[in-house]
Amino acid sequence: MKNTLLLTFLVLLTLTGCNKVAPVKTTENLKAGIKGETTASAKYAAFAQKAREEGYDTIAKFFDAASKAESIHAANHAKVLEGLGEKMDEFKPEFEVKTTAVNLQAAIDGETYEINTMYPQFLADAKNEKVDKAVKSFTWAFDTEKKHQQFYANCLEALKLNSERNLPFEYAVCPVCGNTYDKANMDAKCAFCQTDSSKFIII
Ligand SMILES: [Fe+2]
Ligand SMILES: [Fe+2]
Repeated sequence: MKNTLLLTFLVLLTLTGCNKVAPVKTTENLKAGIKGETTASAKYAAFAQKAREEGYDTIAKFFDAASKAESIHAANHAKVLEGLGEKMDEFKPEFEVKTTAVNLQAAIDGETYEINTMYPQFLADAKNEKVDKAVKSFTWAFDTEKKHQQFYANCLEALKLNSERNLPFEYAVCPVCGNTYDKANMDAKCAFCQTDSSKFIII
């Protein structure tokens, strides 16, 4: 009897120990990330159009570049979600288009939320749940958003000083990770994922 109990205990221990914990949080985070990145991509494309209408062509260029980068982040997150055997729910991106000055501040606020709150939490959960592909995809987005925040801050500063003509007029976006460069200052290989700069999307 004693031996049977011990054996049952050992079998149960082995079974539970071998089962990997389901990545419940990471699945939800990937969905939220896809929604956030898809919405950001659509929003920045609309902000680019507004900036062009207002005569801010260089600022429009950066909105276009960031829009492309966010679409790459969304696609990367979606691939990871698919790999977990999950599907994205239907949703409609919602945002407001105002003046370019207000749109730039909204963009800075969005990037700041992703940098300070969203991606640090997503990364902690993905590491806990040991979803390496999610860690990689979230890291690429997190590192890119830090650069976007700085570019947007530069755009807003230039707009206030009426010096937007001095902003970069071409950007390069890594097609693999979304890393975004001023084309005049890009690396030979992407600093985040090592993709060769000959593959970069020029905007
Ligand atoms: Fe961004
Ligand atoms: Fe890259």
